[in-house]
Amino acid sequence: MDVVVRPDPAACGRAVADAVAGALAAAAGRPVNLGLATGSSPVPAYAELVRRRRDEGLSFRAARAFLLDEYLGLPAGHPESYRRVIRRELTDHLDIDPGEVHAPDGARAHPAAAAADYERLLAAAGPIDVQVLGIGTNGHIGFNEPGSPRDSGTRVATLTERTRLDNARFFGRLDDVPRHVLTQGLRTITAARRVVLVATGPGKRAAVAAAVDGPVTTAVPASVLQEHPHCTLVLDRDAAAGLTRTVPAGVVSGPSRAGGDYR
Ligand code: F6R
Repeated sequence: MDVVVRPDPAACGRAVADAVAGALAAAAGRPVNLGLATGSSPVPAYAELVRRRRDEGLSFRAARAFLLDEYLGLPAGHPESYRRVIRRELTDHLDIDPGEVHAPDGARAHPAAAAADYERLLAAAGPIDVQVLGIGTNGHIGFNEPGSPRDSGTRVATLTERTRLDNARFFGRLDDVPRHVLTQGLRTITAARRVVLVATGPGKRAAVAAAVDGPVTTAVPASVLQEHPHCTLVLDRDAAAGLTRTVPAGVVSGPSRAGGDYR
């Protein structure tokens, strides 16, 4: 697990965008599978990718996008459904084929069947080239809450009250936050060739410290990334400030290398 610390969320966003752009540049004509988180953490990265598309001509024609998760039980077209969020924040502003923006289908009558279909779709598409992740204040990745099985695939999951409280800011009222979701599992997520997790702000400090410096345990789902062969955590100073073993608090490492590969 590589840990890089940047001064602020915008700089974190540029580092994540470097990783995505690096995968697109390395594609050489083959499809590039991008794994996309939603929520607030990747917003600066997505804004940076939109800027590079607009100002620098970065092309996403080779890209296929796969979301991590989706709420269950939202009415069709709800503005906080992750399929809508990713279109608004990112894909509507890129030259990606809209038919290649995939998400688990939270509107299906049979959610378990929707989960199985999504897992099959991912398996058929081949490995995710770059998986962008955020982290919950309780250490979740995707919606794999503490205690999620290490060997899990895409499935129906129940949100903890902690996560529902955290996400109430998107819905206005806690009562409107769904209780159930479809989420890629820890096995699905860690099958990606490369993982880039972005965390910013003091609210993520404890979760980041547990995930990076603590033991590998499904009680802190993000800690399983310690075992991933190519995982980078991109942190701002606030999110990194609780690290004691891996990076002394406040260290800002050098500029990213070409293609966003920090190794
Ligand atoms: C969302 C997702 C979640 C979020 C996490 C952090 O697709 O997979 O794991 O990344 O809840 O959310 P923010 O970034 O809003 O703090």
